[in-house]
Amino acid sequence: MDDERDHNTSSSSLPSLCKQLASSTLRGSLEPDIPVVDLSASDEELVLRAVVKASEEWGIFQVVNHGIPTELMQQLQVVGKQFFDLPEAEKEAVAKEEDFEGYKRNYLEGIKAWDEHLFHRIWPPSCINYKYWPKNPPQYREVNEEYTRHMKKLTEKILGWLSEGLGLPPAALTKSLGGEMAEYVIRVNFYPPSPKSELALGAAVHTDIGAITLLVPNEVPGLQVFKDEQWLDLEYINSAVVVIIGDQLMRMSNGRYNNVLHRATLDKENLRISWPVFVAPKHDLFVGPLPELTGDENPPKFETIVYKDYLHQTIRNWTLDKLPLY
Ligand code: OGA
Ligand code: NI
Repeated sequence: MDDERDHNTSSSSLPSLCKQLASSTLRGSLEPDIPVVDLSASDEELVLRAVVKASEEWGIFQVVNHGIPTELMQQLQVVGKQFFDLPEAEKEAVAKEEDFEGYKRNYLEGIKAWDEHLFHRIWPPSCINYKYWPKNPPQYREVNEEYTRHMKKLTEKILGWLSEGLGLPPAALTKSLGGEMAEYVIRVNFYPPSPKSELALGAAVHTDIGAITLLVPNEVPGLQVFKDEQWLDLEYINSAVVVIIGDQLMRMSNGRYNNVLHRATLDKENLRISWPVFVAPKHDLFVGPLPELTGDENPPKFETIVYKDYLHQTIRNWTLDKLPLY
Protein backbone atom coordinates (compact mmCIF):
# COMPACT_ATOMS: atom_id res chain seq x y z
CA MET A 1 0.00 0.00 0.00
CA ASP A 2 1.27 3.48 -0.82
CA ASP A 3 1.67 5.38 2.35
CA GLU A 4 3.44 8.69 2.37
CA ARG A 5 2.68 9.80 5.91
CA ASP A 6 5.30 11.25 8.17
CA HIS A 7 6.24 8.38 10.44
CA ASN A 8 8.37 10.38 12.79
CA THR A 9 6.88 9.65 16.18
CA SER A 10 8.59 12.36 18.19
CA SER A 11 5.84 14.50 19.65
CA SER A 12 7.53 17.72 18.56
CA SER A 13 6.67 16.73 15.00
CA LEU A 14 3.05 15.83 15.73
CA PRO A 15 0.48 17.73 13.73
CA SER A 16 -0.50 20.67 15.88
CA LEU A 17 -4.15 19.67 15.83
CA CYS A 18 -3.44 16.53 17.79
CA LYS A 19 -2.09 18.62 20.64
CA GLN A 20 -5.57 20.05 21.18
CA LEU A 21 -6.99 19.75 24.67
CA ALA A 22 -9.05 16.80 25.80
CA SER A 23 -12.17 18.97 25.91
CA SER A 24 -11.96 19.69 22.19
CA THR A 25 -12.61 16.12 21.04
CA LEU A 26 -15.08 16.03 18.19
CA ARG A 27 -18.13 13.96 18.95
CA GLY A 28 -20.88 13.37 16.48
CA SER A 29 -22.80 10.82 14.51
CA LEU A 30 -20.59 11.29 11.46
CA GLU A 31 -17.54 9.85 13.18
CA PRO A 32 -16.24 6.72 11.52
CA ASP A 33 -16.16 3.79 13.93
CA ILE A 34 -13.08 2.06 15.20
CA PRO A 35 -13.38 -1.48 13.75
CA VAL A 36 -14.66 -4.41 15.84
CA VAL A 37 -13.66 -7.90 14.71
CA ASP A 38 -15.52 -11.03 15.85
CA LEU A 39 -12.89 -13.74 16.10
CA SER A 40 -15.49 -16.51 16.28
CA ALA A 41 -16.66 -15.99 12.69
CA SER A 42 -16.48 -19.33 10.91
CA ASP A 43 -14.58 -18.09 7.87
CA GLU A 44 -11.04 -17.47 9.16
CA GLU A 45 -10.03 -15.84 5.89
CA LEU A 46 -12.61 -13.10 6.54
CA VAL A 47 -11.30 -12.60 10.08
CA LEU A 48 -7.75 -12.34 8.74
CA ARG A 49 -8.78 -9.78 6.16
CA ALA A 50 -10.67 -7.69 8.71
CA VAL A 51 -7.68 -7.68 11.09
CA VAL A 52 -5.26 -6.75 8.31
CA LYS A 53 -7.50 -3.98 6.95
CA ALA A 54 -8.05 -2.52 10.44
CA SER A 55 -4.29 -2.57 11.09
CA GLU A 56 -3.55 -0.80 7.80
CA GLU A 57 -6.28 1.81 7.93
CA TRP A 58 -6.56 2.41 11.66
CA GLY A 59 -3.83 0.74 13.66
CA ILE A 60 -6.44 0.02 16.32
CA PHE A 61 -9.42 -2.31 16.57
CA GLN A 62 -11.36 -4.27 19.15
CA VAL A 63 -11.72 -8.02 19.14
CA VAL A 64 -14.68 -9.90 20.61
CA ASN A 65 -15.20 -13.64 21.11
CA HIS A 66 -11.44 -13.90 21.46
CA GLY A 67 -11.43 -16.95 23.73
CA ILE A 68 -10.26 -15.25 26.94
CA PRO A 69 -12.78 -16.19 29.64
CA THR A 70 -14.83 -13.18 30.76
CA GLU A 71 -14.45 -14.34 34.34
CA LEU A 72 -10.64 -14.17 34.10
CA MET A 73 -10.85 -10.64 32.64
CA GLN A 74 -13.05 -9.65 35.58
CA GLN A 75 -10.61 -11.20 38.06
CA LEU A 76 -7.73 -9.31 36.47
CA GLN A 77 -9.67 -6.10 37.05
CA VAL A 78 -10.62 -7.01 40.61
CA VAL A 79 -7.06 -7.80 41.74
CA GLY A 80 -5.70 -4.70 39.99
CA LYS A 81 -8.23 -2.43 41.68
CA GLN A 82 -7.61 -4.11 45.05
CA PHE A 83 -3.92 -3.28 44.74
CA PHE A 84 -4.56 0.41 44.02
CA ASP A 85 -7.03 0.59 46.91
CA LEU A 86 -4.30 -0.38 49.39
CA PRO A 87 -2.81 2.29 51.65
CA GLU A 88 0.02 4.21 49.97
CA ALA A 89 2.66 2.60 52.19
CA GLU A 90 1.69 -0.88 51.01
CA LYS A 91 1.77 0.14 47.36
CA GLU A 92 5.25 1.53 47.91
CA ALA A 93 6.37 -2.02 48.71
CA VAL A 94 6.61 -2.55 44.95
CA ALA A 95 7.74 0.99 44.13
CA LYS A 96 9.60 1.69 40.91
CA GLU A 97 13.36 1.96 41.32
CA GLU A 98 15.95 2.59 38.65
CA ASP A 99 14.28 0.63 35.84
CA PHE A 100 10.71 1.08 34.57
CA GLU A 101 9.11 -1.77 36.55
CA GLY A 102 7.09 -1.15 39.69
CA TYR A 103 4.50 1.21 41.15
CA LYS A 104 4.58 4.95 40.55
CA ARG A 105 2.43 7.92 41.51
CA ASN A 106 2.32 10.63 38.93
CA TYR A 107 0.11 13.46 40.17
CA LEU A 108 2.05 16.37 38.80
CA GLU A 109 1.25 20.02 38.94
CA GLY A 110 0.29 21.36 35.55
CA ILE A 111 -1.76 19.61 32.97
CA LYS A 112 0.24 16.69 31.72
CA ALA A 113 -0.05 13.80 34.12
CA TRP A 114 -2.65 12.49 36.46
CA ASP A 115 -2.25 8.85 37.16
CA GLU A 116 -0.79 6.06 39.21
CA HIS A 117 0.49 2.98 37.52
CA LEU A 118 2.01 -0.41 38.08
CA PHE A 119 4.33 -1.87 35.49
CA HIS A 120 5.89 -5.34 35.40
CA ARG A 121 7.17 -7.92 32.98
CA ILE A 122 5.00 -11.01 32.55
CA TRP A 123 6.92 -12.93 29.85
CA PRO A 124 9.39 -14.59 29.24
CA PRO A 125 9.71 -16.29 32.64
CA SER A 126 13.47 -15.64 32.68
CA CYS A 127 12.83 -11.87 32.62
CA ILE A 128 10.19 -11.76 35.34
CA ASN A 129 11.11 -10.04 38.57
CA TYR A 130 8.44 -10.96 41.13
CA LYS A 131 9.70 -8.20 43.36
CA TYR A 132 7.48 -5.89 41.33
CA TRP A 133 4.37 -8.10 41.46
CA PRO A 134 2.09 -7.16 44.36
CA LYS A 135 1.87 -9.76 47.16
CA ASN A 136 -1.45 -8.27 48.12
CA PRO A 137 -4.10 -9.22 47.07
CA PRO A 138 -2.81 -12.80 47.36
CA GLN A 139 -4.48 -13.93 44.10
CA TYR A 140 -2.66 -11.23 42.12
CA ARG A 141 0.07 -13.54 40.86
CA GLU A 142 -2.08 -16.51 39.92
CA VAL A 143 -4.58 -14.34 38.03
CA ASN A 144 -1.84 -12.49 36.15
CA GLU A 145 -0.05 -15.71 35.24
CA GLU A 146 -3.23 -17.18 33.84
CA TYR A 147 -3.97 -13.94 31.98
CA THR A 148 -0.44 -13.98 30.51
CA ARG A 149 -1.01 -17.41 28.97
CA HIS A 150 -4.12 -16.08 27.23
CA MET A 151 -2.44 -12.83 26.15
CA LYS A 152 0.40 -14.77 24.55
CA LYS A 153 -1.94 -17.09 22.67
CA LEU A 154 -4.12 -14.25 21.39
CA THR A 155 -1.12 -12.09 20.45
CA GLU A 156 0.46 -14.90 18.46
CA LYS A 157 -2.84 -15.58 16.68
CA ILE A 158 -3.16 -11.92 15.66
CA LEU A 159 0.52 -11.74 14.64
CA GLY A 160 -0.10 -14.83 12.51
CA TRP A 161 -2.86 -13.08 10.57
CA LEU A 162 -0.77 -9.92 10.26
CA SER A 163 2.14 -12.00 8.90
CA GLU A 164 -0.11 -13.60 6.31
CA GLY A 165 -1.42 -10.16 5.41
CA LEU A 166 2.16 -9.31 4.43
CA GLY A 167 2.40 -12.47 2.32
CA LEU A 168 4.62 -14.20 4.90
CA PRO A 169 4.24 -17.51 6.78
CA PRO A 170 2.08 -17.17 9.94
CA ALA A 171 5.07 -17.49 12.31
CA ALA A 172 7.10 -14.73 10.61
CA LEU A 173 6.31 -11.75 12.85
CA THR A 174 6.44 -13.71 16.11
CA LYS A 175 9.82 -15.09 15.06
CA SER A 176 11.13 -11.63 14.19
CA LEU A 177 10.21 -10.44 17.70
CA GLY A 178 12.32 -13.20 19.21
CA GLY A 179 9.76 -16.03 19.37
CA GLU A 180 9.49 -17.29 22.95
CA MET A 181 11.84 -14.49 24.04
CA ALA A 182 9.56 -11.67 22.86
CA GLU A 183 8.86 -9.47 25.87
CA TYR A 184 5.40 -8.98 27.40
CA VAL A 185 4.88 -6.24 29.96
CA ILE A 186 1.65 -5.34 31.72
CA ARG A 187 0.86 -1.84 32.89
CA VAL A 188 -2.09 -1.07 35.11
CA ASN A 189 -3.10 2.55 34.54
CA PHE A 190 -5.11 4.04 37.38
CA TYR A 191 -6.71 7.40 36.55
CA PRO A 192 -8.77 8.80 39.45
CA PRO A 193 -11.59 11.26 38.71
CA SER A 194 -10.07 14.64 38.00
CA PRO A 195 -11.57 18.07 38.57
CA LYS A 196 -9.20 19.24 35.80
CA SER A 197 -10.44 16.63 33.33
CA GLU A 198 -10.93 19.20 30.58
CA LEU A 199 -7.34 20.35 30.72
CA ALA A 200 -5.39 17.31 31.76
CA LEU A 201 -4.69 13.99 30.14
CA GLY A 202 -4.24 10.64 31.86
CA ALA A 203 -1.85 9.49 29.15
CA ALA A 204 -0.28 12.09 26.87
CA VAL A 205 -0.44 11.79 23.08
CA HIS A 206 1.80 8.94 21.97
CA THR A 207 2.27 5.87 19.85
CA ASP A 208 3.16 2.62 21.60
CA ILE A 209 6.87 1.91 21.28
CA GLY A 210 6.69 -1.88 21.07
CA ALA A 211 5.19 -4.10 18.39
CA ILE A 212 1.58 -4.54 19.50
CA THR A 213 -0.50 -3.80 22.59
CA LEU A 214 -3.54 -5.69 23.89
CA LEU A 215 -5.53 -3.49 26.25
CA VAL A 216 -8.54 -4.07 28.45
CA PRO A 217 -10.25 -0.98 29.91
CA ASN A 218 -12.84 -0.70 32.66
CA GLU A 219 -16.23 0.67 31.61
CA VAL A 220 -15.31 4.37 31.90
CA PRO A 221 -14.49 5.78 28.44
CA GLY A 222 -11.25 7.69 27.89
CA LEU A 223 -9.10 6.11 25.18
CA GLN A 224 -9.03 8.28 22.08
CA VAL A 225 -7.35 7.86 18.71
CA PHE A 226 -6.28 10.45 16.18
CA LYS A 227 -7.58 9.77 12.69
CA ASP A 228 -8.30 12.05 9.75
CA GLU A 229 -7.39 15.16 11.73
CA GLN A 230 -9.68 14.48 14.65
CA TRP A 231 -9.77 12.71 18.00
CA LEU A 232 -12.23 9.83 18.19
CA ASP A 233 -13.51 8.03 21.28
CA LEU A 234 -13.16 4.29 21.61
CA GLU A 235 -16.55 2.80 22.37
CA TYR A 236 -16.56 0.52 25.43
CA ILE A 237 -17.60 -3.03 24.63
CA ASN A 238 -17.91 -5.39 27.57
CA SER A 239 -15.20 -8.11 27.47
CA ALA A 240 -13.61 -6.83 24.26
CA VAL A 241 -9.83 -6.60 23.92
CA VAL A 242 -8.43 -3.46 22.27
CA VAL A 243 -5.54 -4.13 19.87
CA ILE A 244 -3.11 -1.27 19.18
CA ILE A 245 -0.38 -1.43 16.51
CA GLY A 246 2.90 -0.04 17.84
CA ASP A 247 6.00 1.45 16.25
CA GLN A 248 7.80 -1.85 15.61
CA LEU A 249 5.01 -3.46 13.56
CA MET A 250 4.81 -0.27 11.54
CA ARG A 251 8.57 -0.41 10.96
CA MET A 252 8.78 -4.17 10.31
CA SER A 253 5.90 -3.99 7.80
CA ASN A 254 7.69 -1.10 6.05
CA GLY A 255 4.77 1.19 6.79
CA ARG A 256 1.90 -1.14 5.88
CA TYR A 257 0.56 -1.31 9.44
CA ASN A 258 -0.26 1.97 11.17
CA ASN A 259 1.19 2.88 14.57
CA VAL A 260 -1.84 4.75 15.79
CA LEU A 261 -1.55 7.98 17.78
CA HIS A 262 -3.61 7.79 20.93
CA ARG A 263 -4.14 9.31 24.36
CA ALA A 264 -6.24 8.78 27.48
CA THR A 265 -8.53 11.45 28.85
CA LEU A 266 -9.70 11.75 32.44
CA ASP A 267 -13.20 11.63 33.76
CA LYS A 268 -14.58 14.26 36.14
CA GLU A 269 -16.51 11.79 38.25
CA ASN A 270 -15.39 8.27 37.59
CA LEU A 271 -12.31 6.22 38.21
CA ARG A 272 -10.84 4.87 35.00
CA ILE A 273 -8.46 1.90 34.93
CA SER A 274 -6.87 0.19 31.95
CA TRP A 275 -4.68 -2.89 31.57
CA PRO A 276 -2.46 -2.71 28.48
CA VAL A 277 -0.09 -5.59 27.75
CA PHE A 278 2.80 -4.32 25.60
CA VAL A 279 4.48 -6.89 23.37
CA ALA A 280 7.97 -5.90 22.28
CA PRO A 281 10.94 -7.48 20.51
CA LYS A 282 13.67 -9.12 22.55
CA HIS A 283 15.79 -6.10 23.47
CA ASP A 284 19.00 -6.93 21.61
CA LEU A 285 17.37 -7.73 18.26
CA PHE A 286 17.83 -5.55 15.21
CA VAL A 287 14.39 -4.36 14.12
CA GLY A 288 13.48 -2.76 10.82
CA PRO A 289 11.60 -3.49 7.61
CA LEU A 290 11.55 -7.27 7.05
CA PRO A 291 13.96 -8.13 4.21
CA GLU A 292 11.25 -10.17 2.42
CA LEU A 293 9.20 -6.98 2.06
CA THR A 294 11.82 -4.73 0.57
CA GLY A 295 13.78 -4.61 -2.67
CA ASP A 296 14.65 -2.27 -5.55
CA GLU A 297 10.96 -1.59 -6.16
CA ASN A 298 10.19 -1.18 -2.52
CA PRO A 299 13.07 0.42 -0.63
CA PRO A 300 13.07 0.32 3.17
CA LYS A 301 11.38 3.38 4.64
CA PHE A 302 12.93 2.95 8.08
CA GLU A 303 16.32 2.39 9.56
CA THR A 304 17.08 -1.01 11.08
CA ILE A 305 18.22 -0.51 14.67
CA VAL A 306 18.61 -2.48 17.87
CA TYR A 307 15.27 -2.37 19.68
CA LYS A 308 16.83 -1.33 23.00
CA ASP A 309 18.34 1.74 21.30
CA TYR A 310 15.03 2.66 19.68
CA LEU A 311 13.33 2.33 23.07
CA HIS A 312 15.81 4.51 24.93
CA GLN A 313 15.92 7.11 22.19
CA THR A 314 12.13 7.41 22.15
CA ILE A 315 11.82 7.66 25.91
CA ARG A 316 14.53 10.32 25.89
CA ASN A 317 12.53 12.32 23.33
CA TRP A 318 9.41 11.98 25.46
CA THR A 319 11.29 13.22 28.49
CA LEU A 320 12.65 16.21 26.57
CA ASP A 321 9.10 17.00 25.51
CA LYS A 322 8.00 16.47 29.12
CA LEU A 323 5.53 13.73 28.26
CA PRO A 324 5.49 11.83 31.56
CA LEU A 325 4.43 8.41 30.37
CA TYR A 326 7.05 6.42 32.21
C1 OGA B 1 -0.81 3.24 27.30
C2 OGA B 1 -2.12 3.75 26.82
C3 OGA B 1 -4.44 4.15 27.18
C4 OGA B 1 -5.50 3.93 28.19
O1 OGA B 1 -0.71 2.93 28.50
O2 OGA B 1 0.11 3.15 26.45
O3 OGA B 1 -2.20 4.15 25.69
O4 OGA B 1 -6.63 3.80 27.78
N1 OGA B 1 -3.16 3.76 27.65
O5 OGA B 1 -5.20 3.92 29.36
NI1 NI C 1 -0.49 3.58 24.52
